[in-house]
Amino acid sequence: MSDWRENDRKAVWHPFTAVKEDTVNVPIVRGEGAWLIGADGKRYLDAISSWWVNLHGHSHPYVAKRVAEQVQKLEHVMFAGFTHEPAVELATRLLEHMPEQFTKVFYSDNGSTAVEVALKMAFQYWFNQGAPRKKVIALEDAYHGDTFGAMAVGGRGVFSKPFDPFLFEVEFIPTPVVGKESEALDRLSQIIEKEEVASLIYEPLVQGTAGMQVYSPEVLDKMISMCREKGIIIIADEVMTAFGRTGTLFAMDQCEEKPDLIALSKGITGGFLPMGVTVCTEEMHNSFWSDDEAGKMKTFLHGHSYTANPLACAAACASLDLMEKDETWENIQRIEAQHSEFAKEATEISGVAAVRHKGTILAIEYETGAQTGYFNSLRDRLYDFFLERGIILRPLGNIIYIIPPYCITEEELNSVYQAIREFKL
Ligand SMILES: Cc1ncc(COP(=O)(O)O)c(C=O)c1O
Repeated sequence: MSDWRENDRKAVWHPFTAVKEDTVNVPIVRGEGAWLIGADGKRYLDAISSWWVNLHGHSHPYVAKRVAEQVQKLEHVMFAGFTHEPAVELATRLLEHMPEQFTKVFYSDNGSTAVEVALKMAFQYWFNQGAPRKKVIALEDAYHGDTFGAMAVGGRGVFSKPFDPFLFEVEFIPTPVVGKESEALDRLSQIIEKEEVASLIYEPLVQGTAGMQVYSPEVLDKMISMCREKGIIIIADEVMTAFGRTGTLFAMDQCEEKPDLIALSKGITGGFLPMGVTVCTEEMHNSFWSDDEAGKMKTFLHGHSYTANPLACAAACASLDLMEKDETWENIQRIEAQHSEFAKEATEISGVAAVRHKGTILAIEYETGAQTGYFNSLRDRLYDFFLERGIILRPLGNIIYIIPPYCITEEELNSVYQAIREFKL
């Protein structure tokens, strides 16, 4: 068999990657702390936590040990009709970190499925009441995943174009960033006054894929309370924002108004194994309840083969142990302070159009003239510039962002800022 690196080109189709002659996928053989180590020995600083999943560093010894222990005991069992301790421990502990109205955890296996489950629960909530509702409200430029339901509630553009005819209808309102709050609230009010809406879905406080668009807890509170008055089911997609990313355990912790359903994934296992979680309130869960034969129709008939995989649950429990340590929160606060300091400087860098910062997330948007969008040519220049310097930043068009693992040191983070200073538009 020839070298596995050559076979990658022959046998593997990579995500979000153009199918063409000169595509190069960097072979990685090891990870430690904030670093990934290439097959040629080159070290890469993972400044975006491998698509925002890694919280505590790569191959963290404690999480690895807990997963290794679990794998010796039970690797998997189907989750309908059976249960196991890691799933129960994780659900119980997640709920302990949430307000008391949240009482049930439904497992799936990635961020898109966590969102699909939330959308389906919201639609079936209305169906089970005998008063089905169809309309969903989402935010412009939202990203909730790549499966059909998740795509439908995401902003329409190059990613969705081939599939647009198959997506259900959604009302999009402006993301309520500074300067757009009233427009967003007015639009929301018009829609909910005019028609019956099933659910509202949003990425709380930071819209990730839209380029880390930040908006305030106050405006989100207003949106939620307007929808509450109409009984609309509120879905918070915390797939990216949870587990300390915005400076609190969940972004919703910064809001007065809470959702009915919460989608979690990405950081939940510390970046070790795929897992999706949809958390729901007692009231939501009760709407699926029935003891009689006819009531079986109220059942939530949804599940995945790897639902509540014990290894993923063990990794998530271990990651939660680390999240509960003071040291992790000291690191989160340090990253937040470093970002805040650099954000002031970055606004002065030539060619920088905007800087956005929330918690451990920092985004820098470059001027592009007429060219905008994901396929902006600047994107490739930025990507290559940082990769050559051993820093992984995967730009969203003309926007770079840093979302590091919490174990990144002060010096390592400073080295990313230094590279940003050196990039010339
Ligand atoms: C807010 C949000 N929701 C859902 C998803 C989809 O998650 P996954 O890629 O695990 O399907 C993402 C992924 O980036 C996301 O950022």
